[in-house]
Amino acid sequence: MTVPDVRGLLDGEPPHDQAVFATRLRRYWPDLVTGLTGAYPEHAVEMAERLVEIAAENFRRRPTDLRLLDLQRHADPQWFGHQSMLGYATYTDLFGGTLRGVGEKVDYLGELGVTYLHLMPLLRPRPGQSDGGYAVMDYRAVREDLGTVDDLRDLATTLRGRGISLTLDLVLNHVAAEHAWAVAARGGDQRYRDYFHLFADRTLPDAYERSLPEVFPDTAPGSFTYDEEAAAWVWTTFNAWQWDLNWHNPEVFYEFADLVLWLANLGVECLRLDAIAFLYKRMGTACQNQPEVHAITQALRTVARIAAPALVFKAEAIVGPADLAPYLGVGKHTGKVSDMAYQNSLMVQVWSALAAKDTRLFCAAMNRFPAKPVTTVWNTYLRCHDDIGWAIDDADAASVGLDGAAHRRFLADFYAGLYPMSDARGLVFQENLETGDRRISGTAASLIGIEAALATGDEARLEVAVRKLLLAYAVVLGYGGLPLLYMGDELGLLNAYDFDADPDHADDNRWVHRPQMPWDRAERRHQEGTLEHRVYSGIRHLVAVRAALPALEASVETEVLDPVNPAVLVCLRRAPTQTMVAVHNVTAEPQSLPRWVVPVGSWAWDALTEETPLTDGPLHLRPYEVRWFVQEV
Ligand code: GLC
Repeated sequence: MTVPDVRGLLDGEPPHDQAVFATRLRRYWPDLVTGLTGAYPEHAVEMAERLVEIAAENFRRRPTDLRLLDLQRHADPQWFGHQSMLGYATYTDLFGGTLRGVGEKVDYLGELGVTYLHLMPLLRPRPGQSDGGYAVMDYRAVREDLGTVDDLRDLATTLRGRGISLTLDLVLNHVAAEHAWAVAARGGDQRYRDYFHLFADRTLPDAYERSLPEVFPDTAPGSFTYDEEAAAWVWTTFNAWQWDLNWHNPEVFYEFADLVLWLANLGVECLRLDAIAFLYKRMGTACQNQPEVHAITQALRTVARIAAPALVFKAEAIVGPADLAPYLGVGKHTGKVSDMAYQNSLMVQVWSALAAKDTRLFCAAMNRFPAKPVTTVWNTYLRCHDDIGWAIDDADAASVGLDGAAHRRFLADFYAGLYPMSDARGLVFQENLETGDRRISGTAASLIGIEAALATGDEARLEVAVRKLLLAYAVVLGYGGLPLLYMGDELGLLNAYDFDADPDHADDNRWVHRPQMPWDRAERRHQEGTLEHRVYSGIRHLVAVRAALPALEASVETEVLDPVNPAVLVCLRRAPTQTMVAVHNVTAEPQSLPRWVVPVGSWAWDALTEETPLTDGPLHLRPYEVRWFVQEV
């Protein structure tokens, strides 16, 4: 396999840019070919050659400032793993009204310490219900009420100028049934029929269904929808109006390679690979996490490495612990697939430890993860725009004497507020009667007990709930990785029960935790004594302390220590220059730990308070107290 010659492809470009492109091509050509071979064994070389042309065409269009950004990222390839990175996820309309409006809120983001902004889907969705924008009708246009493609480019530039990297979703498993490709397929155009999985009768769909799990069992049962016009059963994993793309077809790959680079050329710095686990279908399997998914990701990322290496990929694979590690690369894909991935297990384990007041399962589950490639980063988070699914592994549960199904049931009951003494106020999302699964919607503040405490007017209870929220965020911010703050959590926003007033949202209670940003309440973040001030200043303090701790650089692995006292979570991070031991009391009662459980000297200080409280005696912790002990090496 000879590396294609780029002369001719980049005629007229500055000679040093041609040389840079050619250098990257030589570096990445083998990864491109092997990635493609993993998914398209018969077409790999011809596809690689076509993709180099696509890469070159887009490189020609890459603006000078972004070519410079590419070089800056080469000089600092782990930029997204610095401990000073903080992500923020929000909806354009709910946060700033429009893209321009978001641009006017950069001071707010800057004050919080945000360096990475994920704007929820904003490319033109189908009208009406669109799964929060995850049913895209036109990837080259912006949702009309949010602005234009020029506004998007301007916002990316503004954010970049303020040290904030823009992240957008790449919805690549499916398109809206109204997308031009689907329209052409319905019209009988064979080229576009091949972009989808269409079946003349139920034979194959029935055969697939035997091993397919349900994603939206309540509202969209089954994974296939009959379309009269197409005269076919269409693969629709999510909703009937989200048509799964046929990634077995190289043409689909070309479309997305070109789209990825087009978005990168607008100044998008990270793409969230939505529902990536579902991309490749195989009979007799759950059609998730297939090996080809990783091969495709490698090939797609390689195209970006060649033409726009400032772009990084983030995998949205909300899968069980055993399937998660490959999204950051294991074996031959090590360091070659997504740069980041949501640490879904960590999120679940935080909620689980708080409900159970016990950290043993957390310890077993998190320590089972293999070390990730050093070039990759977990996205840690407490809440996001989606529901929480109780991804507790049965073997992990059994290893600490729990029954997996019973614990999942307990968590669903607890967070739905059905369990005795639970002060969580979640809503059950998509109950699956067959498996008993119940996912949960709700904001962090409502799930953690702030809503219930406010309702009682009991100040002491509210104080405990606020501490609990700050503890949960301390785990997320102190675990290492790029933490993602979900809009409103910094102010303790509660569930928005009026979500069902919008008929397009009424049957999807995830909207309960997608409130409008109340800017008047945000003002109270500076007003002492208010709830907003307590939550905001607590989170802001954690973020600021974190940014100065080398132990929190993302390549360092966290080891969860046997806490001896199960009510306390003890996390150890050993960086070359600093050791950090984070200690968290996950209960509302005082706790203590034998001194030997905290493996640092008595000169170690608590970075959160700047005290040096360690003595030879046991360590005492107040309810929901967190200590970040650090010691220079
Ligand atoms: C992802 C999104 C979720 C959406 C689904 C289908 O999981 O986070 O909101 O429903 O993909 O696009």
